[in-house]
Amino acid sequence: MIVVLAGAPGAGKGTHAARVAEVLDVPHVSTGDLLRGAVDSGTELGKKAESYMKGGELVPDDIMLSLVAGLLDSPEWERGVVLDGFPRTLPQAHGFDALLKERGRPLGRVLLFDLSEEAAVDRLSSRMWCPKDSSIYNLKTNPPATDGVCDVCGGPLERRADDEPETIRARFVEFRSATGPMIDYYKDLGVLTRVSTEGPIEDVSRRVREAAERLTAGDGVGDGR
Ligand code: AP5
Repeated sequence: MIVVLAGAPGAGKGTHAARVAEVLDVPHVSTGDLLRGAVDSGTELGKKAESYMKGGELVPDDIMLSLVAGLLDSPEWERGVVLDGFPRTLPQAHGFDALLKERGRPLGRVLLFDLSEEAAVDRLSSRMWCPKDSSIYNLKTNPPATDGVCDVCGGPLERRADDEPETIRARFVEFRSATGPMIDYYKDLGVLTRVSTEGPIEDVSRRVREAAERLTAGDGVGDGR
């Protein structure tokens, strides 16, 4: 099954993508992580994406579509994939529809992680992450066992370059103007399920798991409102 995770910056997509993927027994991929990896390694993709990401802007649609088109035929995605952060504009959604149609593959569902902007900004302001394995922490709500050290790989934790206040504001502007119409599109298609990510992380984990389990049972539809 192909499942898209959508939601505002800081809504919890990265924190919960693995859980959804585990329930569906498919891999998960974050386009943000792919792009950050490309920037760190100085690839052509990274060179193209870096200035957009630094400014909190979206990377152009044609770049994102060719990135995903290249991955869609990989054997790892044969049984499906949880896509964290793609598509995130209306042109990307239309382009993704076309890519899936060419391959005779259906879009399973779009899970929209729903969180107030105020709560999301608060979470982003205290986020730390591991550039080596992309583990996500929060100094207030989900700290590592040892200050500044990744629990998983023991590497040093960092603040993400786009988590500065001005860049967070720019990312929300992009979310409202570019991702909003895409959310309306999926809602009109009847493939959108909203999952509230307000509240403590354990409660959200449970809600996300339940939503994923409903997908495997074939009734994860909800009404998208
Ligand atoms: P991307 O990496 O996808 O960033 P984003 O969408 O802005 O989302 P975030 O990763 O910031 O937040 P999240 O929802 O994953 O929240 P998280 O789980 O970390 O994209 C980055 C950039 O790449 C974009 O700006 C763009 O430039 C480019 N890009 C990527 N995809 C693109 C595309 N398709 N098209 C064009 N450009 C693209 O959680 C946040 C914090 O909250 C963490 O600290 C976490 O520990 C904490 N937390 C989580 N849940 C809870 C809870 N319930 N209670 C308390 N704290 C919690």
